[in-house]
Amino acid sequence: MKDKKIAVFASGKGSNFAALAGAVKKWPKADIALLVCDTPGAAVLNKAKRAAVKSVLVERKNFSSRAAFERKITAHLKNEKIDVIVLAGFMRLLSPLFVRKFKNRILNIHPALLPAFKGEHGIRDAFDYGVKTSGVTVHFVDEKMDHGPIILQQAVPIRETDTLETLEKRIHAIEHRLYPNAVKLLIDEKLKITGRKVLILR
Ligand code: GRF
Repeated sequence: MKDKKIAVFASGKGSNFAALAGAVKKWPKADIALLVCDTPGAAVLNKAKRAAVKSVLVERKNFSSRAAFERKITAHLKNEKIDVIVLAGFMRLLSPLFVRKFKNRILNIHPALLPAFKGEHGIRDAFDYGVKTSGVTVHFVDEKMDHGPIILQQAVPIRETDTLETLEKRIHAIEHRLYPNAVKLLIDEKLKITGRKVLILR
């Protein structure tokens, strides 16, 4: 099997990028060939530099349409012969056309137990709602936001003593373990999708 090339898309801090970069280094058959970032000055850009991962900055405002923006990104992906896309805090919705092009090869992580608390503020929304359990979800990306077939989920209890900050900390710690595990399953071709169900081949 040839080496699988991963592209990570991120807009912000990049703690998931860093966790993935650390994990992928130990895998024999994969590497992160590219970071795609849409936000100038995002901390993830420095993390890529430190991990010796090539990065490209593609800003939406420099393109007249989402299609043109995505064409530029696709060109970068082709250049690097990318097989798998890992969204890690990428704050843009990808078009149905883009998603179809990379069907079943794009993963996303969401800091809540989907389908609850979709959207940008999953941790805060769950905390404010008063649920006793939230968690982390890794799923395939389809044409709707935070919607595709679920690969892995882990519950995180919300304690009475939690503040938003302490909960965020625990959720992120789980993310940093769960995401590399899910990406590894995809790389090792251990995921079988049937409809909405994802079977993990042992
Ligand atoms: C994570 O909480 C992830 O679940 C969400 O965006 C956040 C990104 O954080 N999609 P970071 O940039 O990886 O630190």
